[in-house]
This record gives sequence, structure tokens and C-alpha cells, in this order.
Amino acid sequence: DKGGYKHFMSKEIAEQPRVLTEVIGYYLSDDATRINLPENGFDFKTIDRLTMVACGTAFYACLTAKYWFEQIAGMPVEVDIASEFRYREPPITERTAALFVSQSGETADTLAALRYCEGKADSILSVVNVPTSSIARESNLALPIMAGPEIGVASTKAFTCQLTVLYLMALKAAHDKGRLSDTELADRLSELRSLPSAVNAALALDKSLAHAGLKLSEAQDVLFLGRGLMYPLALEGALKLKEISYIHAEAYASGELKHGPIALIDKSMPVVVKAPRDALFEKTVSNMQEVMARDGKVILITDAAGAAEAGDEAWITIVMPTAPAALTPILYAIPAQLLAYHTAVAKGTDVDQPRNLAKSVTVE
Ligand code: M6R
Repeated sequence: DKGGYKHFMSKEIAEQPRVLTEVIGYYLSDDATRINLPENGFDFKTIDRLTMVACGTAFYACLTAKYWFEQIAGMPVEVDIASEFRYREPPITERTAALFVSQSGETADTLAALRYCEGKADSILSVVNVPTSSIARESNLALPIMAGPEIGVASTKAFTCQLTVLYLMALKAAHDKGRLSDTELADRLSELRSLPSAVNAALALDKSLAHAGLKLSEAQDVLFLGRGLMYPLALEGALKLKEISYIHAEAYASGELKHGPIALIDKSMPVVVKAPRDALFEKTVSNMQEVMARDGKVILITDAAGAAEAGDEAWITIVMPTAPAALTPILYAIPAQLLAYHTAVAKGTDVDQPRNLAKSVTVE
């Protein structure tokens, strides 16, 4: 049931404030100051290393989580695509936890990667949407994302719920290891609880993103740029766009622009730049100027402070609500989804069932 929406994808995008509230509520103690895990819980104190493995959008959630685990918990993290990981025979050192992220919990490569880690890793954790799935059943601890059924082939609400659970795990790891005090943890959790209302405000930008999507639907190729936490999100934005609009899209870390992709820039190349006004903003603005100096058309997705600083040179500027820096990947997923959605709608493609794709990839 599409509940009055034109597509499952738009329904699932709109559900995010509710499902995010639910998943945050599920993991928080009654007084909202501590994180509770299901079953017997898990303690990161004896874990020195995290290996995260997934495919597609779930892989980009892992890439984002790497920044969080490194910065907040000070933990070395390795992130890999399941189809590469499983055949590489990577050594798993002691005190390593292996964490698998999968919406369906049935992705063949991710499951094979999990089985490879059995008996090698200290523990097997998973972040899944389907609690009865193979990946959930074969883990020592399965962490549900509580997104509810996701029908659209393009993952939307599962991605933001995966990010939320991974962020909570990074906070828990930092707290277990004594890098976050009780008060710091409580403050971070209170910030997180206000995220769903910021997501709601981002959803209200639908009209501007529909306008941007209409323009983007005329492009042959689109480049996505991001730095720091916005880099994995640039990858996710490009994946979403190619999946449902069939427009060729690529993502690069902004700093890589000069190392090749800048050669592609001309007046027919839209460049989507996601950049909240954070510590890395000035560097991104200078990348943006390099693009504009070569007639590239920039779609800048930023907050009010960023928009004021960037001036009005961008082709299109989308002004997002503000959020604490660590939470921007979850918030900025919304315009990535809406932009892809509206571009696909403008092109008239089958948004929920894009060609050649299956919701769950249970064969190699
Ligand atoms: O069910 P999974 O999370 O394991 O699926 C992984 C990928 O197949 C999936 O995220 C895919 O990339 C989506 N279609 C992205 O929108």
C-alpha cells in the first residue's frame, strides 16, 4: 500500500522522521541518557579493531561510520565491499569485531563474508532490517534498524536508520572505552533525539529539489563531490541517481578533483556539492570555484551559514536546516534521495522497480 503516495520510494522517504524516532527510542534508556542493546548486549572495551563489510548503499553507511568510529571512539576501522572482502582472504587479527550491514539480511556476498569471519573474529555483529534474516541469525548480536518493510529498490529509510544505529554504536564504543563521559554521551543522545525534526524540515525542501531534479534530468553525466562525512554521501547520491534515473553519475572526494575528474568539467556537467558550513567548508568552496571557473554548473546543498558564505554563484543553492556536524550525513541523505527521486520522475523511469535491479541480491 503506497498510502496515497505516487511511489513506494516517496512514501519511504517521507516516513523517515517517524522511523528515525522509533529506532532512536528503541536503543535509548528510559531517561534517554544511555544506550541499551538487545540480547546480552556487547562491550567494545576489549575490541581494538572493527571490520565492516557490506554492499551498495549499506557499504556507504559503513564508510560513513568509519569517520564516526575513528573520530569519536578512536578505533581503527576497515571497511570493505563484501564481494572483494570474501575472496581476498583478509587476515582477521584478535580483538577484532566484524560488523555486517544489510537491509535484507540476505545479500549473498555479505553473508559469505560473514561466514568467512566466523571463528576468526572476536565477535560477529550485524545491522539489519529483517531480524529473521540469515545475516541476523548467524550473528552473535543482530542490531535491528526498525525501518519497517522497504519496498522501493532504491534504499532510502533503511540507509538513514542504518546510519543512526551505526552512530549509536560509535557512541557506545567511545563510552565503553572511556573516551566519552556519561554527560558527553547524554548530550550526544539529546542532539540525536532532535534529528527527526531536522529531517522533517529537510523534507519540506521537496519543491526546490523537484525544481533541481527537473534541471538535472536533462544532464547526461553528473558529478557528486563531498569532503569528510559528505564524501560517502556523495557516493550514495551518485548511486541513487544512476539506479533510478539511469543518468551516469560519479562521486569523488572533493580533494580528488584536481587529480583527474576536473578534466570532465564543462558547461554540460552539473556538479552536486554537499557541504554544511563545517571545518572543511572553505576547502570545498574553493573546489566549487574551480568547477565554476570551468563553466561547471554547481548545485550546492548547504546550510544558511554556508549559503551566505558561498555567495550566489552556484547554479542552484539548496538551504538545509542546521544540525550538529556529526549528524549531517543522516540529514543530508534527504536531499540526495529527493534529488534522485525527482530527476527520475522527470525522466519518467520506473522509480520503484528500476530496470535490471532486484531489491535483494541473493546470488553472486
Ligand atoms: O539488502 P542489502 O542492504 O544487503 O542490499 C545491499 C545493496 O544491494 C543495496 O543497498 C543496493 O545498493 C540498493 N539498491 C541501493 O539503493
